[in-house]
Amino acid sequence: MSLFRLDASIRSHGSTSRAIADIVEKSWLQGNPDATVTRRHIGLEPVPATAWAQSVTANRGDAASMTDEEKESVALAATLAEELLDAEAFLLAVPLYNFGISQHFKAWVDLVVTDPRLASSAGQPLKGRPGVLVVVRGGAYGPGTPRDGWDHASSWMRRILEDVWGLDLRVVESEFSLVGVNPALDQFKEIAAEMRSESERLAAEHGRYLAGALTH
Ligand SMILES: Cc1cc2nc3c(=O)[nH]c(=O)nc-3n(C[C@H](O)[C@H](O)[C@H](O)COP(=O)(O)O)c2cc1C
Repeated sequence: MSLFRLDASIRSHGSTSRAIADIVEKSWLQGNPDATVTRRHIGLEPVPATAWAQSVTANRGDAASMTDEEKESVALAATLAEELLDAEAFLLAVPLYNFGISQHFKAWVDLVVTDPRLASSAGQPLKGRPGVLVVVRGGAYGPGTPRDGWDHASSWMRRILEDVWGLDLRVVESEFSLVGVNPALDQFKEIAAEMRSESERLAAEHGRYLAGALTH
């Protein structure tokens, strides 16, 4: 059994997305004690922003005339693609930054799909594999809130993971992680605690789903 885990937080300490993903992972490991976990910390060790264009250009040109940099980018794309192709289940933890997708997550996806095995023309080699996406937001964006509709990241991530790659995806959305950090949000302490507790419950449930999806 093998799990691919990706973390996109730019923090190594105090990260809510990591803490919630840890719950999913722990719950998955309880069901698969001998499982292996392949980790990629794209927030702390980002995929180079230049790699995508080099890999696209290299794939369209003559292999013999590739520059060393292009060869490196194609090789990195192949490594990233293999991490996905080798995994039986997926756990991705991605915070909301500036109302949009983490630039590190976008750079990672863009590069991965330059590998011919995960290009749209290759069909869906990951189709049906189980995955959990943990989305963490500092604020709250539910229906009726002033910023309802301002999260421009989650729908894009779901489009890639569910529709393009075909994962059987479960999502944990955890909001108000900035309550307790930003004093302007102090009035929301109670509801933030309830939301956190619900997202932790769901994380454990989804970890069990990941484990169960592979053992049945
Ligand atoms: C540069 C930056 C931009 C952010 N932009 C948003 C935002 O647009 N909306 C939001 O709800 N939270 C935003 N946040 C808050 C993060 O989503 C929140 O702190 C989250 O918990 C970060 O993930 P982590 O705890 O795993 O590091 C931002 C945080 C940073 C550092």
